[in-house]
Amino acid sequence: MKNDPDTGETGRSRLEPEPMARRDFLGLTAWWSAAAALLFGFLGAIRLPKAAVLPSPSKRFPVALPASLAPGQPYVPAGRSVAIYKEGNGVYAVSRICTHLGCIVNATESGFDCPCHGSKFAKDGTVLKGPAPKPLPWLEIKSVGPNQFLVDEGKTVPPGTTVTV
Ligand code: FES
Repeated sequence: MKNDPDTGETGRSRLEPEPMARRDFLGLTAWWSAAAALLFGFLGAIRLPKAAVLPSPSKRFPVALPASLAPGQPYVPAGRSVAIYKEGNGVYAVSRICTHLGCIVNATESGFDCPCHGSKFAKDGTVLKGPAPKPLPWLEIKSVGPNQFLVDEGKTVPPGTTVTV
């Protein structure tokens, strides 16, 4: 911008951009802000939803029974709701989900105790004391090697079904 000392007028070269009025600048800023808000809102709306929960572990899992497991002593694999027993030449798996309201029962030397309402079960899952209405189900177990088993928490088998080792 150049000032003419004689006339006092402000002369502007044609190459110089015209200064932006404050009002125009604020209006333009408002439009850009609105456009950015719309763009981010649109991107947020089309973003793919992500699962809100972790996938549950597979119901079928391998188990290595400790060689020192005494007959009649329960073995509870970490993080699983099943107890595995070795009796004679047979191995069987019993669910630890209480048939009353679904609490996880504690496996003991004599059977199972439910910490929620006091039900008691024998080692074979039969109800010794209510309010549990049904015995604990037996679960499918397969031998896959020496002291190696595959348990399926999703498949029940008739009580008394054992896998021979
Ligand atoms: S949930 Fe086990 S006794 Fe109620």
